[in-house]
Amino acid sequence: MIERIEVSAPGKLMLFGEHAVVYGRPCIVTAVDHRMRVMVETANDSNLELYAPEVDVAGYIEKINNLGRDDAPKGTRFVSVAVRNFFNSFGIKSGLKVKTKSDFSSEFGFGSSSAVTVGVVKALSELFEKPLNNKEIFNLSYNTILDVQGVGSGFDAAAAIWGGTIYFITGGKKIEPLAAGKLPLVVGYTGIKADTPTLVRQVANFYKENKKLVGKIFDSIENIVEEGRIALSNHDHKKLGVLMDQNQELLNELGVSSPELENLIVAARKAGAYGAKLSGAGGGDCMIAFVPKGSRKLIEKVIEEKGGKIINVRTEAQGVRLEA
Ligand code: MEV
Repeated sequence: MIERIEVSAPGKLMLFGEHAVVYGRPCIVTAVDHRMRVMVETANDSNLELYAPEVDVAGYIEKINNLGRDDAPKGTRFVSVAVRNFFNSFGIKSGLKVKTKSDFSSEFGFGSSSAVTVGVVKALSELFEKPLNNKEIFNLSYNTILDVQGVGSGFDAAAAIWGGTIYFITGGKKIEPLAAGKLPLVVGYTGIKADTPTLVRQVANFYKENKKLVGKIFDSIENIVEEGRIALSNHDHKKLGVLMDQNQELLNELGVSSPELENLIVAARKAGAYGAKLSGAGGGDCMIAFVPKGSRKLIEKVIEEKGGKIINVRTEAQGVRLEA
């Protein structure tokens, strides 16, 4: 029997389609080379023992029979609900030790909760020799994300599983890898942590009160995603920049941008970016810019001058994989 497994899963950046994707529309997401590592080990007791330093969890212990309690500390919930859901699916009962280690801060909005969830599901499938294909890992991970945070399209779990750049429709109705190649992205962190469920609920309320207007915004975002999909396969970075600017305008209309994001986005455009937008739920986290070859340094400099923190990322990151 296998006693110890280590896997890693990448973080992600939303390129086009955030928020609209919660309402059955498509989006395009790209995985980045900042990884979340998950180590799992069987234990001779009936507990889950969890070490997750990136969310200040050190030696948290919970009875296997009790996993996923609503009053468990926030930093433990994705792991413990993922373990519970996996064990329930396969009728497994075992003591377990889980350690996570992240290359990236959970503040950036790179999808650390989804990457950790995907990592746990993949690691357990290897540890207990229950082979799962990508779609099965997705379904277990997505159910876990919904159990914990109640809302979400699942695009971040798909990015963590498939890696690369993918075209995605809500709940994994469509998950299609795109041959996008390396993307010339500059990423600026605003220094403000956004709370995704809060922003998703804010848009839900706006939609409830303005069905027609917000429905039209979602339609326009969907068109941008479809055009983006073509521009990505043509490696047309100029066109992708234009589409980013248009997507940002619509996100502004949805009310999810912020002065800090706008500040960095406008600075990047003025310094020569093809286009720029927020990436993710909005309200903070990161902005992204598509940049021509020669102007990366200048764009990074102006973002820093405006108070942003540059996060170096490479795209075309591999999806969830075994490390040991
Ligand atoms: C958040 O990163 C992106 C949203 O579209 C939510 C989701 O798709 O789960 C706002």
